[in-house]
Amino acid sequence: MHDFSNLVLKLIEASRNHESYRDKECINLIASEGLKSPAVKQILSLSTDLEGRYAEGENDLDGHVKKRYYQGQKYMTEIENYATDLLKNLFNCGWADSRLVSGTHANLATFKGLSLASKNRKMVVTPLSCGAHISHDYAGLAGSVLGLENINHVYNIDEFNIDADKSAHIIRAAKPGIVTFGGSLFLFPHPIKELKTVSKEVGAFIAYDASHVLGLIAGGVFQDPFNEGADFITSSTHKTFPGPQGGIILGNPKNKRLEKAIKAIQFAIFPLSTSNTHLGRLPALGIAALEMKIFGKDLARQTVKNAQTAGQYLYENGVKVLCESKGFTQSHQIAVDVCNFGGGKKVAQKLEEVNIVLNKNLLPYNDQNDRDNPSGLRIGFQDVTRRGLKEDAIKHLCDLMLSAMKEKKKPSKIKESILELKKEFNQVKYGFESLEEVIKYCEA
Ligand SMILES: Cc1ncc(COP(=O)(O)O)c(C=O)c1O
Repeated sequence: MHDFSNLVLKLIEASRNHESYRDKECINLIASEGLKSPAVKQILSLSTDLEGRYAEGENDLDGHVKKRYYQGQKYMTEIENYATDLLKNLFNCGWADSRLVSGTHANLATFKGLSLASKNRKMVVTPLSCGAHISHDYAGLAGSVLGLENINHVYNIDEFNIDADKSAHIIRAAKPGIVTFGGSLFLFPHPIKELKTVSKEVGAFIAYDASHVLGLIAGGVFQDPFNEGADFITSSTHKTFPGPQGGIILGNPKNKRLEKAIKAIQFAIFPLSTSNTHLGRLPALGIAALEMKIFGKDLARQTVKNAQTAGQYLYENGVKVLCESKGFTQSHQIAVDVCNFGGGKKVAQKLEEVNIVLNKNLLPYNDQNDRDNPSGLRIGFQDVTRRGLKEDAIKHLCDLMLSAMKEKKKPSKIKESILELKKEFNQVKYGFESLEEVIKYCEA
């Protein structure tokens, strides 16, 4: 034995344990995590050489590779172009960039590029307390890294949405270079249509962060940001969109102003913020885009139906699910106030004990400095939907959650039922089983 042997053996054991624990033994209700199909996993596992390569360079206004700085790139260039074209086809847009390694990176490049193109450092954003991602905020990437000045949209807590009328006044007065929509606690479509005119009037670009809802948009539900007036969509590729972890930016080079903006965003991607672009994920991203083209509508509709079913069922059983008057949600998530059950932290821990994994969440009316003990939970249904759970199974799952929250049964008994549920739903639906199946489908 060496002095490092113990560490290495434990590392291997923990890695193996993790795969079985989270994939086979736990129900995952974390709203920001996606579930890849066997075909997407297969092509990821076949992309190991690609995973170690570099492809620094510049792209054109179609999103295709224009210039490379290294040799040995011929297939890598094809791969990036094909993945980009599959995204453009899925989202019906003229430009896509798949070089971003995460949603945060997509925001970084977009916010930087658009602030350069507009020569304006002001950005109107949803308040962090009302569900925006930290990367939009002055306390995170936007303010503390990029030095942008944040001005908040006015948020209506009862509606769980941006107040379009009041935010129009803010935009008109602030004259920002960027107006953002989208967020992490994201139940209802944001009012892009309503704020499009005033944003254009002051010369602002509209950037929509679809990280949470990209799969829903691909499936034609929730909202259609481009049709409603967004200039750019930024996103992760691994939440409701069930691809490998990564990021994308989508847009349309429809006029000189947008072409200039795309060029500025491309500059913010390379050379400003990338060297290697984690190329091993690109084939898997393309296959995930194909899956969403084929199965996305059914997957998205069932995901929202399952979230609404859970909202209604938990509400009827004594849990304060927010936004009852609005049908609880139009996305994959619901927001729940569990202060009557001991608060978000305690309930999340109790659920973890029975192998139900989710996260505590600050609600807009909570003390925002008390991050450790918020009254809320955010519950996402994209993973369980992809495993095939429909309304009846969702109600059964809610019963198990209620049993744990109300301490009606011993945790060990509830955990047994969760393990049974996992066994019953042990396949990934709305996707391809293998690459062979993908090839057969495409050749038919
Ligand atoms: C709205 C939103 N934007 C961006 C991100 C960051 O994405 P990533 O984790 O891929 O960097 C998240 C993460 O959850 C998010 O919720």
